[in-house]
Amino acid sequence: MRIEKVVVETEDNNVKTFSLCFLNKEDEGSFTYTPGQFAEVSVLGKGEAPFGMASSPTQSGCLEFTVSKAGVVTTALHNMEAGGIVGVRGPLGNGYPVEALKGSNVVMIGGGFGFSTLRALTNFLLDDANRGSFGDVTVIYGARSPGLLLYKDELKQWQERTDLHLYLTVDVGDQEWPGRVGVVPKVTKDIAPGSENTYVVICGPPVMIKFTLPVIKELGFAPDRTLLSLEMRMKCGLGMCGRCNIGARYVCLDGPVFSLAELNQLPQEFWG
Ligand SMILES: Cc1cc2nc3c(=O)[nH]c(=O)nc-3n(C[C@H](O)[C@H](O)[C@H](O)COP(=O)(O)OP(=O)(O)OC[C@H]3O[C@@H](n4cnc5c(N)ncnc54)[C@H](O)[C@@H]3O)c2cc1C
Ligand code: FES
Repeated sequence: MRIEKVVVETEDNNVKTFSLCFLNKEDEGSFTYTPGQFAEVSVLGKGEAPFGMASSPTQSGCLEFTVSKAGVVTTALHNMEAGGIVGVRGPLGNGYPVEALKGSNVVMIGGGFGFSTLRALTNFLLDDANRGSFGDVTVIYGARSPGLLLYKDELKQWQERTDLHLYLTVDVGDQEWPGRVGVVPKVTKDIAPGSENTYVVICGPPVMIKFTLPVIKELGFAPDRTLLSLEMRMKCGLGMCGRCNIGARYVCLDGPVFSLAELNQLPQEFWG
């Protein structure tokens, strides 16, 4: 795929969103995906790494990936510009169960670059063709500081919508930040979204998940309606190399999205 556009998302320059366009129309037609799925993106001579699609399948054309600079592949990607060519292998994994969410309210709770697939899910739910199939849609999204929030222009548009409840928070504010200050689990507790006929979808750093789960339990969300996207080390993405398994389940094939009911059957030291 060809890099069409690169957007620097955060003030520390560490997170960028890459819009990638298919070189081949046939590939574009066969790349059908669900929010929450991922792809292996490769940089020639450097290797490949998994990234969740940050774009929604309701937007045609380019795919978007939001990439945090962590090591070899992500640094090589960050050094590339519009016009560069990368390999993309996917879509992989199961994604969020959008059919099961129909008719229910959906609460999404995210932090860090993990918010990228929740952004995809939000845009999917808000799409004109889909919005009527879902109940109330709530997004709780936190970053360490205002300058680390992703998708700032889109967040402004979301804030103006009447069919979305958006709660933004930062761990530490600054003089210009007019919004909430507080970590995601605390803010979730304060907002206390209702759990009746509601799915909660959580994606973020392990520490956020660890402290958010007890709050979710306290609010009465059933384990089979609590969905988590896990981020394990991966290599093949195809259930072949054994790098990502938790017990008998492969995060790359059976996940990365699992319900808490499913995870409760698996050894907690690998996901908790
Ligand atoms: C399903 C899935 C979806 C993902 N989506 C995104 C995304 O949308 N955006 C994004 O920026 N990243 C995402 N990641 C994480 C991303 O794949 C890793 O950060 C990436 O593999 C790093 O590659 P690298 O070659 O740059 O780093 P490497 O050179 O391989 O490693 C750099 C450092 O990071 C550590 N490291 C690498 N990967 C991981 C990991 N998964 N967990 C803990 N430590 C790790 C290494 O031990 C090393 O210290 C996702 C991972 C998975 C499994
Ligand atoms: S990454 Fe190889 S089995 Fe999952």
